Amino acid sequence: MKTEGDDLMQAPRKGNGADFDPSGPYRMYHGDRIPGFPQHPHRGFETVSCTLNGLVDHSDSCGNAGRYGHGDLQWMTAGKGIVHGELFPMINRNSQNIVRLFQIWLNLPAKSKMADPDFVMVRYLFVIILTFP
Ligand SMILES: [Fe+2]
Repeated sequence: MKTEGDDLMQAPRKGNGADFDPSGPYRMYHGDRIPGFPQHPHRGFETVSCTLNGLVDHSDSCGNAGRYGHGDLQWMTAGKGIVHGELFPMINRNSQNIVRLFQIWLNLPAKSKMADPDFVMVRYLFVIILTFP
């Protein structure tokens, strides 16, 4: 199984997670031609995606879609269930397309696990930046 990207900028082949290799040229393994995570389900929690560099293309089963990055933040409530995709567009043809982000998963309390899915974008200008000495 091919587990690394190639010179054609194709994403590595799908795996089940056990093949994740943080030393590889790509830090994710899903997607056929565009790196990232094609449509996949979440349920019962919230994701907070905080971008540092690069861009993310989001689309979901609620009809939301958009591109965010470079400090933007996305807060998604999966609640009773949502299917979404997180792809990293290859916009630079002659230079690297670096994406740095982190995602926090917040477990919802039992009474809120079946909440309606929701999606909020917070653009960089409105994100409070915390720094620690
Ligand atoms: Fe996801």
